[in-house]
Amino acid sequence: MDAPEKKDWLLDERLLQSQKLAAIGELSAGIAHEINNPLAIIRQEAEWMQLLLKKLGGRDHKELEELQGSVHQIVQQVDRCTEITRNLLDFARKRDPVIQAVEVNRIIENMTMLVEKEAKHKNITIVRHYDETLPMIYSDAPQLRQVILNFLTNATHAIGKDGVVTITTRLSHDDAVDIVISDTGCGIPADHLSKIFDPFFTTKPPGQGTGLGLSICHGIILRLGGRITVDSQLGQGTEFTITLPRSRESELFAHA
Ligand SMILES: Nc1ncnc2c1ncn2[C@@H]1O[C@H](COP(=O)(O)OP(=O)(O)OP(=O)(O)O)[C@@H](O)[C@H]1O
Ligand SMILES: [Mg+2]
Repeated sequence: MDAPEKKDWLLDERLLQSQKLAAIGELSAGIAHEINNPLAIIRQEAEWMQLLLKKLGGRDHKELEELQGSVHQIVQQVDRCTEITRNLLDFARKRDPVIQAVEVNRIIENMTMLVEKEAKHKNITIVRHYDETLPMIYSDAPQLRQVILNFLTNATHAIGKDGVVTITTRLSHDDAVDIVISDTGCGIPADHLSKIFDPFFTTKPPGQGTGLGLSICHGIILRLGGRITVDSQLGQGTEFTITLPRSRESELFAHA
């Protein structure tokens, strides 16, 4: 097989692969979505049964205790199914956020600890400037973890070795919270700045980056009512600022 033919074949293969992934994503998202409604009803009914059983609790029946145990099992298994459908929807990137009170500093620290060991090997220092008085925000913790991890990974990649990643949290204007992740890495050329959030835009060699990281982060932050801004100096480093509303109602930037 000569070179051009092989290249065409590779391209076709890749196209097919991405079409397959998209189809799997759509299918699983569809199923997950359909299963979520009956799951929610089962959980509600099981909770109602728990309440009723509690009322009967004083009567000291062995069967009653067993019944309580069974209903508890139902609730636990339903929660497990819900977690699975959540992961499937995540894969398809179509999961609606699950809004709960979130401690931003703690989420960041958890993710920082994950990358810090590897970073140390490359002589990359991670500096924390957390605002310890930061209020809780209403957001989606697992999705925020995913976003923070993506930014930290990009920052360490941009440095390669010997450098500093600085993470700052602070109160922003408009009842919001800023998470600033800056690095002393290679920086981003001005003509790339408008493309970095596009799906499949990557400057990494084939096999090392899909170019999906920032586009996924961008989608998540928009759905959480926030925004991302970037400031970069070629050869000096890059600073990303993620701004999140303190409450879901504010949705300050969704349409900015
Ligand atoms: N901190 C950074 N410093 C310099 N360039 C960056 C930084 N973060 C992102 N980029 C640029 O933006 C591009 C897109 O980033 P994105 O995270 O979307 O994809 P990726 O890192 O290339 O691949 P992956 O899908 O594995 O995340 C990168 O290839 C890089 O050129
Ligand atoms: Mg990336």
